[in-house]
Amino acid sequence: MPDDGIPPLNGWSESELDRAFASVAKEVELSARSLNSPEEQEQFRLYWLGRKQGRLKAISDAWLKAAPPQAKKLIGQRFNTLKAEVEQRLERAAASSPGHEFDAETIDITLPGTRRKLGAEHPLIRTWHEIVGIFQRMGYSVGVGPEVETDYYNFESLNFPPGHPARDTQDTLVIAGQERKPLRDRLLMRTHTSPVQIRTMEQQPPPVRIVIPGKVHRNDAADATHSPIFHQVEGLCVDTNITFADLKGTLDHAMKELFGSSVRTRFFPSFFPFTEPSADVQISCPFCAGSGCRKCKHSGWIELLGCGMVDPTVFEFARLKQPAYDPKKISGFAFGMGIDRIAMMKYGIGDIGLLYSGDLRFLEQFA
Ligand code: PHE
Repeated sequence: MPDDGIPPLNGWSESELDRAFASVAKEVELSARSLNSPEEQEQFRLYWLGRKQGRLKAISDAWLKAAPPQAKKLIGQRFNTLKAEVEQRLERAAASSPGHEFDAETIDITLPGTRRKLGAEHPLIRTWHEIVGIFQRMGYSVGVGPEVETDYYNFESLNFPPGHPARDTQDTLVIAGQERKPLRDRLLMRTHTSPVQIRTMEQQPPPVRIVIPGKVHRNDAADATHSPIFHQVEGLCVDTNITFADLKGTLDHAMKELFGSSVRTRFFPSFFPFTEPSADVQISCPFCAGSGCRKCKHSGWIELLGCGMVDPTVFEFARLKQPAYDPKKISGFAFGMGIDRIAMMKYGIGDIGLLYSGDLRFLEQFA
C-alpha cells in the first residue's frame, strides 16, 4: 500500500485536478492487485472507504478544505467517480471469489430453476446391458474387439478358407486400398462378433467364459428389418467336458431371463463354419405363447440366434498362440445373437431404422 501522505495539489485548474486524481486512481489500481480472499477485500475496503480513517475521506477533506468555492464542485465530481471505481473493484473481487453467494436482493430464489430433461437409456443399449447382465450373473466376463478387423480374424481363423462360398453369406464391407497386402492382413468391417472368439483365446488359456457385445457391419440394403450397421452379443465358453447340454441349458436360461420364464426354446440343425454341430435357436413366441400370431408368422416360434460346439479347426488356430487349446483335451460352445432384433421384439419396434434415427419422438417413449 502507498504511504499515508496526502498527495499535494498544485492549483485548481481542471488539468491539474485530472492529474492529481489520475495519480490517486493509479494508487487504487495498485492496491487492488491482490483481492482474492475476503480478508484482503475487507482490508482494501477499510483502507479506501473507511468512514473515519479511509484514505478517500482524508484526501477529499484535505483537498476540499483549501479549495476555493468554484473548485469544490469539480473536486466533488471527481471524487464520486473515484469512489465508484473503488466500489466496483470490490464488487468484482467479491463476485469472483469462491463461495460467493448470489445477492439475495437481485435473485429471486423462489423462482423454479431451469429444468433440463432427463436423458433415457437408448432401447438398443438397454437391451445390450440386459443381455450382458444375464451372462455376467452366470459368471461370464465381458470382452471387446475391433470393429475394423482383418480377413484372418473375421474369416480365415473361423474356418472360412479363402475363396470358400460360406464367405458370400456375409456381404462384407472391405476397406479400400488393401490389395497389396496378403489376403489375411486385409482390413474389413467385421461382419460378426465371432472374430473376438479367436482374439480372446489367443489372449488367455482355458477356461474361458466370455460375452462380447459390439457393433457389426454388412453390405445390406436398409429396410424395416435390415440395417448395414447392427449389433451382436457373442458368447464363448471353453473348458474341459463342455457339452451340447451345457449350451442348451445356458441359452434356455438366458432366453427365459430375457423374455419371461414361460418361454421355451428349441434347437434346429444349422451350419456355421466355426461350430460343429451348429444350431439355430428358436423361442416360443412371447406374444401369443406359441398359439400363432402375426409376430411369429403363425408358427408359434421365432428364430433368434445361432450357436454350436466350437469346431476343432478353430481350436487349432487358437493353439498357434495358446497351446492349451488342444481339441483332444478341451471343448466349448459359442453363440451369437442380434441385439437389434431382440430389442425390437422386446419393445415392439417395427422398423430397425428407428434405432438409428435419433428421432426424439421415438426415443422419448423410453424415458
Ligand atoms: N457369427 C454368427 C453370425 O453372425 C453367429 C454365431 C456365433 C453362430 C457363434 C454360431 C456361434 O451369423
